[in-house]
Amino acid sequence: MTPFETFSNLLRADAPVLSLAPMQDVTTLAFMRVIARYGGPDVYWTEFFRVHDVSRPEKWILDSITKNPTGKPVIAQMIGNDIPALIRTAKELQHYPVAAIDLNLGCPAPIVYRKCAGGGLLREPQRIDAILGALRDAVKIPFTVKTRIGFESPAEFDALLKIFAKHPIDLLTVHARTVTQMYRPGVRYDLIAQAARELKCPVFANGNVFSAAQAQQLLAETGARGLMIGRGAIRNPWLFDQIRAQLRGEKIKLPTGRDVLNYIRELWENEITPGVKELSQVQRMKKFMNFIGEGVPSPEKFLHEIRRVETIANFFRICEEFLDNEELMELEPKNLQPQIFTDETQI
Ligand SMILES: Cc1cc2nc3c(=O)[nH]c(=O)nc-3n(C[C@H](O)[C@H](O)[C@H](O)COP(=O)(O)O)c2cc1C
Repeated sequence: MTPFETFSNLLRADAPVLSLAPMQDVTTLAFMRVIARYGGPDVYWTEFFRVHDVSRPEKWILDSITKNPTGKPVIAQMIGNDIPALIRTAKELQHYPVAAIDLNLGCPAPIVYRKCAGGGLLREPQRIDAILGALRDAVKIPFTVKTRIGFESPAEFDALLKIFAKHPIDLLTVHARTVTQMYRPGVRYDLIAQAARELKCPVFANGNVFSAAQAQQLLAETGARGLMIGRGAIRNPWLFDQIRAQLRGEKIKLPTGRDVLNYIRELWENEITPGVKELSQVQRMKKFMNFIGEGVPSPEKFLHEIRRVETIANFFRICEEFLDNEELMELEPKNLQPQIFTDETQI
């Protein structure tokens, strides 16, 4: 079966589809490999391919498609606004074993939206209309869109939905925040429910899913066909299996501190490139720790110490101090106001 047949079957089946959100500099081939060992999602997204007049698909992102070690379908995401370049790239990406081509309409980084790409396109619905029309013609496999609910105001969502309804897209993922809201609280799950009611295509719900109980409630509340999970899965790679257990009515297994420590060791073993400076390797691990740290006991103290380390020996000394124990970990952030990311990406 081709990846897009597998993906189409997932969308047609009854079970809610669980997916890992695209995350630049996080959802690499190495991270996919680690997440898959913990059960993993049903489908993966690549980080976005930057598309402009002279762009070529980035080699390291192509690796997550050609060397996909998960046995699950992977969807290639593009960001950009140049229609001929998007068509050219979409055609090229279809030569790879991808399950779908996805368009990013959500990236909130000012460097991206000022160029009217990602979330910036939400200010120009007519342009989205033209891009979707052109890409729908060019993409012969499933074509999907990932959007936020507006640029400045959720009131923009009605007009956007009309455009999404006009083009026969195969899936809409809704991150239920506006672009200017970045990652601040106030996720509008009611608008995901509206999209699921009004659109013919399946809808995935995205935004702030950190526990299995919350995932189950969100599926019921919104009628979404599936969930897309980002930061919650970095923090808790067990989350996808926990959600599956919750939906079957089984008891959720919580990892111990030592399990989390082993997960960090596994990330280290997979993420680290031999020959790279120790400090750069420590910085790479800190990227993951910003998320994982929010879920461990005494997150402020843990993160305060981990952010200051410069050697890998000290990095693991602190991890062991906080995590080498049999305590059960819920891994939900204690403070449900997630960090605000301003550096999601560079294009
Ligand atoms: C570090 C980071 C990188 C991201 N990169 C992308 C990206 O490349 N493409 C995209 O559509 N969204 C990107 N996002 C947004 C996520 O896919 C997701 O929509 C967002 O984090 C909300 O989901 P969550 O609350 O489950 O994390 C990124 C988010 C983070 C935290």
